[in-house]
Amino acid sequence: MGAPRELLDAAREAFANAYVPYSKFRVGAALRTRSGTVIKGANVENSSFGLTRCAEQSAIQAMATMGEREFDEIVVYTDSDPPASPCGACRQVLAEFSPTAVVHLVNSEGDTVTTTVADLLPGAFSLEPSA
Ligand code: THU
Repeated sequence: MGAPRELLDAAREAFANAYVPYSKFRVGAALRTRSGTVIKGANVENSSFGLTRCAEQSAIQAMATMGEREFDEIVVYTDSDPPASPCGACRQVLAEFSPTAVVHLVNSEGDTVTTTVADLLPGAFSLEPSA
């Protein structure tokens, strides 16, 4: 089962917009919220390197800002071989909202690895917030 075309196209658009003057490593992400909205995120680097924002985190920040709290599926698009896997920090950020979400890691060759947030981050930290 491949990544859904709509999410793949959106992730590619975000990939093209990545701001990566330092690493030159582009990452595009696109998620589909529970209500069906597609939201994109790209990595945005900074000359103060620690301020760099990963693509997955950019997408989650946009989702939450729009008032959405759950997503069903996310595509992470790179030109790595094999497709790049989310960093540990991104796994925790994804798990905050939707541990059961499906994650498609896709590269420019079309290679696809499909997994879930929970499989990427067993034992995620949680305070079990109520809001
Ligand atoms: N990056 C992401 O966007 N997502 C990840 O999960 C790992 C790394 C970005 C951060 C930086 O701009 C570049 O990839 C190289 O680390």
